[in-house]
Amino acid sequence: MANKVSLTVNGRSVQREVEPRTLLATFLREHLGMTGTHIGCDTSQCGCCTVLVDGDAVKSCTMFAFQANGTSITTIEGLASDGRMHPVQAAFQEHHGLQCGFCTSGMVMSIVELVEKYDGLDEASVRELLDGNICRCTGYHNIVKATLAAADVYRSGSAAATHTDTLLRS
Ligand code: FES
Ligand code: FES
Repeated sequence: MANKVSLTVNGRSVQREVEPRTLLATFLREHLGMTGTHIGCDTSQCGCCTVLVDGDAVKSCTMFAFQANGTSITTIEGLASDGRMHPVQAAFQEHHGLQCGFCTSGMVMSIVELVEKYDGLDEASVRELLDGNICRCTGYHNIVKATLAAADVYRSGSAAATHTDTLLRS
């Protein structure tokens, strides 16, 4: 039996019928064509599938699509605004926070939550808070540098408007 879900994805209202077993990650990729959300393990280990659900970073392979009914979701496709990268994306580019890129969308979404919610991030806390996102290429060093750089942008206040706009649109 299909469930009807109604939610907002990257600022767009979406209504679909989904099977009860459909994972949110599958829904985003296969029903909505948003393949920026990756699936690396399907067992809640890697974090590649991370999206924001009502502003909280969530591994979308751990949630059924019908459980997202009524929520507001932001995926990697929803971060850039008016042709400008989100500050976390820009920091990844500047500090070369990626190699193959497979983990990157989930990593970026987790970091958006971090820089939005936590003050006083330092290298140790970033490494601890990103524990749920696995990268097999980079050794994490540049990811941590990019996170701290994006956190500085947030602390200076120049990113707050951009991201708040993003979340409000989603
Ligand atoms: S695919 Fe969701 S945590 Fe790996
Ligand atoms: S950049 Fe390749 S897995 Fe992270």
